[in-house]
Amino acid sequence: MSYYQVQSLEQYFKHYNKSIREPRKFWDKIADENFTWYQKWDKVVEFDMQEADIKWFINAKVNITKNCIDRHLARRGEKTAILFEPNNPGEEARHISYNELYAEVSKMANVLRDQGIKKGDRVCIYLPMIPELAFAVLACARIGAIHSVVFAGFSASAVAARINDSECKMVITSDGGYRGSKTIDLKGIVDEALKNCPSVEKVLVVKRTNANINMKEGRDQWLQPLLDEAMANSVAEIMDAEDPLFILYTSGSTGKPKGMLHTTAGYMVYSAYTFKNIFAYEENDIYWCTADIGWITGHSYILYGPLLNGATTVLFEGVPSYPDFGRFWEVIDKHKVTQFYTAPTAIRSLAKQDWKWVDGHDLSSLKVIGSVGEPINEEAWHWYNDHVGKKKSPVVDTWWQTETGGIMISPIPFVTPTKPTYATLPLPGVQPVLMDELRNEIEGNQVVGSLCIKFPWPGIARTIWGDHQRFKDTYFSTFPGKYFTGDGALRDEVGYYRITGRVDDVVIVSGHNLGTAPIEDAINEHPSVAESAIVGFPHDVKGNALYGFITLKEAGSWRNQDNLVKEINEHISSHIGPIAKLDKIQFVSGLPKTRSGKIMRRILRKIAEGDFSNFGDTSTLLNPEIVEEIKNGKVE
Ligand code: WTA
Repeated sequence: MSYYQVQSLEQYFKHYNKSIREPRKFWDKIADENFTWYQKWDKVVEFDMQEADIKWFINAKVNITKNCIDRHLARRGEKTAILFEPNNPGEEARHISYNELYAEVSKMANVLRDQGIKKGDRVCIYLPMIPELAFAVLACARIGAIHSVVFAGFSASAVAARINDSECKMVITSDGGYRGSKTIDLKGIVDEALKNCPSVEKVLVVKRTNANINMKEGRDQWLQPLLDEAMANSVAEIMDAEDPLFILYTSGSTGKPKGMLHTTAGYMVYSAYTFKNIFAYEENDIYWCTADIGWITGHSYILYGPLLNGATTVLFEGVPSYPDFGRFWEVIDKHKVTQFYTAPTAIRSLAKQDWKWVDGHDLSSLKVIGSVGEPINEEAWHWYNDHVGKKKSPVVDTWWQTETGGIMISPIPFVTPTKPTYATLPLPGVQPVLMDELRNEIEGNQVVGSLCIKFPWPGIARTIWGDHQRFKDTYFSTFPGKYFTGDGALRDEVGYYRITGRVDDVVIVSGHNLGTAPIEDAINEHPSVAESAIVGFPHDVKGNALYGFITLKEAGSWRNQDNLVKEINEHISSHIGPIAKLDKIQFVSGLPKTRSGKIMRRILRKIAEGDFSNFGDTSTLLNPEIVEEIKNGKVE
């Protein structure tokens, strides 16, 4: 029996039970049957959850790019590996076959080697969503260099902090990038960042926008002439299972970003396995994930997961609103996309638009639609299910984190059921538990607690680059012996999980624990409301009270503000209870968001508390200007 794909509910339970009772045998078989190894492992897993010390496939030797590319060449050489859809719909899409991918990655790998990059060196990649980004990532993996992709929307100081933390030797960037109607001066940002980055010796520059840029003598080189000289084949570096594959920075509760380190074999097995199952991937599918490769979702589910399965993966340079709000739907129609994976924030913003944008396109090719990154509220779930999935394509609400490497809790389409706003069941190999404040495991169903994972899975990050103590403290100390996710969750009467949001988003009002996410859900169901964010603020009598920041679908629709406030509170009362009523409501034109679409509650919390000092680095916000507006309109 193969464990690689779960094909029925009965099989799900069978595989799940096997993965719990005999995790070593379970992962041994998956790793053995579905990948190409130079040498197999002596032992499947070794771990010490107290010390946060985890190793998978001990002493195995492998190269992930051999598995992403080389092994497909015989059968799928001419098949499209990467389907590039440019920002400008007038620019032709590019179909890059597995043969071409092999050649491009080889050339890039040879250039990197020529430029002195060796196994273990760190390379910062700061590129727009263009094919060269994929080639650069894979070229690093080919030669054993550790890639650190920095989202091409971060400011110079954020780029510099990331480069310095891992002492990158090289930066790969471009003369600029297109994003909707804007162009972004990436090289200018890199130049600014590198004023303070002593470790960087070389910068390779991809030509994309033909912008006029500065090239620093002795440091900067155009990439294309080097590629033109390079051989189109290459030998892959032999990597140990636990050799680092990449660093990816994620924000923590302190200002300093955490460089999550993922290693080779475990990440490979886990990203491949989860992709296959969560997207019910079949040979001729056209799969599209709209994330940016600068985030973990792009690493695992634009590049590695799909390529490991020999899939066709769409790489989209643009944004959902350019040239109009129909772009996503147009691209699905144009390329006959079969799996579509996006974020609730995108769904909500598109749901605000006229239906004609969706209904004007043929979406009948879709068979699975996915959501990731934050809890998806009931209204958005239904809109997605009805208008995009047409009630026939299961919505996979996938819960996971940068730290987990791959999806952990999610429906498996056509196998396990979906339930609106629920990530539902853990994948085989994943053992979630809910913990109470006294650090006891909460048994049974219909319970709420802090979400932990009690047994390692192959995709888990191994450390924070340069700071193992912080890794231990952040993830393995709150609930000793378990991995703490930082999220709260509830388990319903049949054992389905619903992620209620970061545990730090819980507000205690008059002694009652209130998750802000369900309150937001209730508010968002009000027909005039587009989006909302709830935070707590100190209150004399109740301990904490709730402050709501709300955006409306149409700015003018709140002419009678008092009525609307009353209606919203009645809505909350009837959905959750009077205890969850808001003390203060402020209508705003937008909410401060990170570039990955997450609401920056930290800032809202400070405003609600009346503390206008030190908002921290707001340069990573998508819309920093909104902070001023919200401050000025604070409700007293
Ligand atoms: C949140 C993104 C609810 C959660 C892959 C988690 C979600 C954090 C979901 C990780 C989901 C992600 N439902 N919440 N389906 N997916 N989250 O590291 O709070 O960018 O801890 O990884 O996003 O965000 P990260």
